[in-house]
Amino acid sequence: MSSTRVDVAGAAPYAIHIGDGLLHDGALLAKHLRGRHALIASDEHVSPLYGDAVVAALRASRPDAQIATLVLPAGESAKTFDNFNRVIAALAEMGATRDACVHALGGGVIGDMAGFAAACWMRGIDCVQLPTTLLAMVDSSVGGKTAIDIPQGKNLVGAFHPPRAVVIDTTTLRTLPSRELRAGLAEVVKYGAIIDAGFIDWLEAHADALLAMDATALSAAIARSCTHKAAITERDPLEHGERALLNFGHTFAHAIEAEQAALNGQWGAGLNHGEAVAVGMVLAARLSTRLGMATPDDATRLTALLVRLGLPVRIPPGLDADALLARMRLDKKTAADGLRFILWDGIGRARIVRGVDESVVLQLLREG
Ligand code: NAD
Ligand code: GLY
Repeated sequence: MSSTRVDVAGAAPYAIHIGDGLLHDGALLAKHLRGRHALIASDEHVSPLYGDAVVAALRASRPDAQIATLVLPAGESAKTFDNFNRVIAALAEMGATRDACVHALGGGVIGDMAGFAAACWMRGIDCVQLPTTLLAMVDSSVGGKTAIDIPQGKNLVGAFHPPRAVVIDTTTLRTLPSRELRAGLAEVVKYGAIIDAGFIDWLEAHADALLAMDATALSAAIARSCTHKAAITERDPLEHGERALLNFGHTFAHAIEAEQAALNGQWGAGLNHGEAVAVGMVLAARLSTRLGMATPDDATRLTALLVRLGLPVRIPPGLDADALLARMRLDKKTAADGLRFILWDGIGRARIVRGVDESVVLQLLREG
């Protein structure tokens, strides 16, 4: 099993391991099991595919350990207090001690929710992230943001709780539905958009290979994305500054996701997170053009790349512009001094812009 390693420095350093078949590497999975209790939290799609392999690998390395598994419902609508409580209940039931470890096996939903439970149990136990979606591999498993959704908004209840390790088994992408692969590519494009113009050139050159699930191209995209996420989050782990750039497109995306949820009565209806981020990034690029910060060519180029990757670039029909703007005011990225956006001066040059005129945003939202 060959693997690439990206180190995240800082107060709570950890490593991101990227390679084929790493879920079978018991020594690697057990490395951060300091005590005797391991809880493998997963969802109903991922657990049947990979749960047994993880249990077997852990058992082989740590025959003395008490290993429990918890299978939760899949999807954004499952990122709730109720399911968070089920993780806590599972830890309580096994009598997990302060040296226990939660292994979060799944996409961003499981990673965020199980990570949050690990942050809360006994004021914080170890969490090893085992991401199985591209989105989780390149973004949510790294950096320590954990959370659940509430009706008022996404990720409004959570904690910063860095993982002890991130173990990315790239072979799990072979079972990922293509829609979810494309959603992950949106977050990959984000790194190019905010800080790495050369990555956009690379993505344009490798778009077909990525969509065809070429293993070499995917591994390269994952490693480059993780390197960016590691560097940004080690410099600004608590989002006091630079880390906010990672929210490029997210103020729009979270409003779209919340409005879809309100209309449909549950989170996860309509566009998924990565798709909403694709639309949000295009809106952020168009807003930058409108405010005179960037040329229209940059927005056009970003839009073309996302379309090529099979991602949506317009607000879904049926979402009201005023309602979206109201949601954006509630977003946790809105500061006391008015709407705050991550915009750009062009590809690879994002920055925080405060006090954006709401009427310009509303006009953009009305255009869709
Ligand atoms: P997800 O966790 O819902 O996974 C998407 C779907 O793919 C689910 O149905 C899941 O069961 C299935 N799946 C996962 N891996 C699979 C595999 N290998 N084979 C087959 N099916 C598989 O969604 P996601 O896109 O991974 O994550 C989205 C969530 O991540 C959102 O809640 C978002 O807010 C959060 N997020 C968090 C951060 C962060 O920094 N913490 C960053 C970005 C996104
Ligand atoms: N995905 C945004 C962040 O980790 O800050």
